[in-house]
Amino acid sequence: MATPANNPHLPFGDQRSAPWYGKDILSVRQFNREDLEYVFAVAHEMRTMVERVGTFDLLKGKILANLFYEPSTRTSSSFVSAMERLGGSVIQINEVRYSSVAKGESLPDTVRTLECYADVIVIRHPEVGSAATAAQYAHKPVINAGDGIGEHPTQALLDLFTVKQELGRIDGLTVTMLGDLKFGRTVHSLARLLSLFKVRLNYVAPEALRMPSGLIGELSAQGLDQSESTRLEDVLPQTDVLYVTRVQKERFESEAAYEAVRGSYVITPDLLKKAKEEMIVMHPLPRVGEIAMEVDQDPRAAYFRQMEYGLYTRMALLAMVLGKA
Ligand code: NCD
Repeated sequence: MATPANNPHLPFGDQRSAPWYGKDILSVRQFNREDLEYVFAVAHEMRTMVERVGTFDLLKGKILANLFYEPSTRTSSSFVSAMERLGGSVIQINEVRYSSVAKGESLPDTVRTLECYADVIVIRHPEVGSAATAAQYAHKPVINAGDGIGEHPTQALLDLFTVKQELGRIDGLTVTMLGDLKFGRTVHSLARLLSLFKVRLNYVAPEALRMPSGLIGELSAQGLDQSESTRLEDVLPQTDVLYVTRVQKERFESEAAYEAVRGSYVITPDLLKKAKEEMIVMHPLPRVGEIAMEVDQDPRAAYFRQMEYGLYTRMALLAMVLGKA
């Protein structure tokens, strides 16, 4: 675990006072409402700066190791873009099969190697808890970019930033999560973050892909208003944020089990006639048929804007853990 106190690579003294300096970002459980306001404020600053100057030197000379054991387009490239827009550079390990991982190197050894060369490590890995393991061995900050079906904290932060930017508030909203709520790590993290607010959460999923009961129990103990259904029509008219997810094919035990639930829900322009005019449709992407392309023209389709908010959020997080926010 990297903390300012045990980090032997501390650069300059005054950065020790920055609250996130040297910290790992492993779970959304680390964030309270005040922290979220802070992340959003920094992300907003980042947006202003990108719009004004594009690239600037806040993290000049800093190096990010971007270690991906699972496929990624958005998360991986938005971290690269975030680091480069802040003037830093990136060691990209996208295909671990071309690294020493293919020779059988353990995660702790790979992480200890990369921290010799980098100031921060972003990791995506198929096992729950892998980012925490990496953080145990690293002295430098580790950011979880998805650990199996566990968490995806940076996605949840950018998702919430999107809601705030698009709808201007979070309290009082009804959020409907749709699709693969069992294996989808983005919804696990986002539901936890939303439990800090006064929201109503609807879970709509096929029977086999319901939100884990343990998580529902955890959140209801915190007083979150939750309901489950298999029919989107039941809750669509009251929904303010429709959060659509992909059925996570790679997590299924067999092709047949996946085929049985794929295509359970498809968002179409016709379906959206039953939704509020000011609702937003979000999706962490990639989509594989859950949202018809004709929906893209609808102003309520926020999923492309959501990707852009992801850049500003990840710029904010990198600046925070490197003591520059
Ligand atoms: C998500 C993921 O990897 O969990 N993608 C992303 O990071 N934007 C969602 C998914 O793969 O379905």
